[in-house]
Amino acid sequence: MTQEIVLHYQLSDGTTRTVDAKVGSSIMETAIQNDIDEVVAECGGSLICATCHVYLDDAVAALFEPADDIEIDMLEGVAAERRENSRLSCQLILKPEHDGHTIHTPERQ
Ligand code: FES
Repeated sequence: MTQEIVLHYQLSDGTTRTVDAKVGSSIMETAIQNDIDEVVAECGGSLICATCHVYLDDAVAALFEPADDIEIDMLEGVAAERRENSRLSCQLILKPEHDGHTIHTPERQ
């Protein structure tokens, strides 16, 4: 049985969407399935579009593996401001420990 967790997406206008998320899905897939329009994901998770850009709080970032070289290269092309805590959400696979955390979406992709 697939384990579910709760994830919060804080949008650039300050509103928050709270959704159920499946462990093993990515933060990008969860956003798309829940009609969170601030995640676009043109390439469907192939790491070639950089339109799944999100910002992670430090506590959340520490729960994921650091970005690999390809993701770091792709982050050069994000449309919104690139920050220290920028990640591509198709590369962020959810685990039980991500339950209840908040993901921030940028103002454009
Ligand atoms: S969905 Fe295209 S890079 Fe993440």
